Amino acid sequence: MTTHRIAVIPGDGIGKEVVPAGVSALQATADRFGLSLEFDEFDFASADYWQKHGTMLPSDWEQTLRQYDAIFFGAVGWPSVVPDHVSLWGSLLQFRRTFDQYVNLRPCRLMPGVTSPLAGREPGDIDFLVVRENTEGEYSSVGGRIFEGTPRETVLQETVMTRVGVDRVLRFAFEQAARRPKKHLTSATKSNGISISMPYWDERVAEMGSKFPDVRLDKFHIDALAAQFVLHPEWFDVVVASNLFGDILSDLGPACTGTLGIAPSANIDPSREAPSLFEPVHGSAPDIAGQGIANPIGQIWCGSMMLDHLGHPEAAAHLLGAIEAVLAHGPAGAPLTPDLHGTGTTAELGHAITECVRER
Ligand code: NAI
Ligand code: MG
Repeated sequence: MTTHRIAVIPGDGIGKEVVPAGVSALQATADRFGLSLEFDEFDFASADYWQKHGTMLPSDWEQTLRQYDAIFFGAVGWPSVVPDHVSLWGSLLQFRRTFDQYVNLRPCRLMPGVTSPLAGREPGDIDFLVVRENTEGEYSSVGGRIFEGTPRETVLQETVMTRVGVDRVLRFAFEQAARRPKKHLTSATKSNGISISMPYWDERVAEMGSKFPDVRLDKFHIDALAAQFVLHPEWFDVVVASNLFGDILSDLGPACTGTLGIAPSANIDPSREAPSLFEPVHGSAPDIAGQGIANPIGQIWCGSMMLDHLGHPEAAAHLLGAIEAVLAHGPAGAPLTPDLHGTGTTAELGHAITECVRER
């Protein structure tokens, strides 16, 4: 039996509350499927660590984390102690860049018992995956300002698309689409307005598509695509996008499926040279931190994504099924947290899901 070594980084605020619920659910799933997970917890990437050491990370963080198969991350940010740009750039963004986690993956699924802000949508109507390029594209630091403060003031910022960078995220997206029942991939573009980089993106999509003849491929301009996410979310299966477009879609998608508290995400290095990082979409929620009422489902769902990445799709599906089963009981039948209109606590909801993992 292979042992998967997991680095656990709770971070700040509700990260410290939801991560233990995630670890318990993972441990129960591992027991059930005869998997061996070994968890080591770290206190860095947090405001507490920053207050003690004056930095967000120890100098040997990279060597330390490289020894792990995955990173199970809570949330970082405590603006009353550390400015957000310092905490984010000093930790999470270091992980993403140093470990070349070039895919940001966000499932968008309408769960039972959760009300969509879109009228008339039922569980099953919305179930797609947003694949965002996570290392280049529009988020480059290439550019600058000249003639500052004069009437000729000029500002430039470039989009960077490399063949390696575009092809690798497209390959990942096609592979994801190929292993899903609908085998459908949608590409986000804007080649009518952005007349150099986006036609290049489209070209590479077509080229990669020729290697995946079983995958049905279509493309939308980003503005129309945003509208269709709201009007016809059932049209989508896997959606691939550049860094900027993906950033927008990966917030819009989960927003269409209800509460922030249940949305998971993964930052993945598909080459598996470095550990991938699994974190809920939400942040440290200072407004509710310390009350024990944060929804742990986003964090637990991240655990399911992590099991899938580690090569255990059945265990991953079982854990996700337990989340769905508990949600389906509704606030009357399960200790759902206040964001789901219940009166349950983080610990109670986490426990209910862990029990369900054991019993289903
Ligand atoms: P947030 O996601 O922490 O909170 C937004 C709202 O959603 C709050 O009202 C909060 O109570 C609620 N909420 C969030 N997660 C919830 C959960 N699990 N259960 C129930 N309610 C939940 O975003 P905000 O307030 O903008 O940021 C707070 C801090 O978190 C900042 O320092 C920010 O930089 C950081 N942050 C970190 C992220 C990360 O680690 N990847 C992502 C987003 C924000
Ligand atoms: Mg965003």
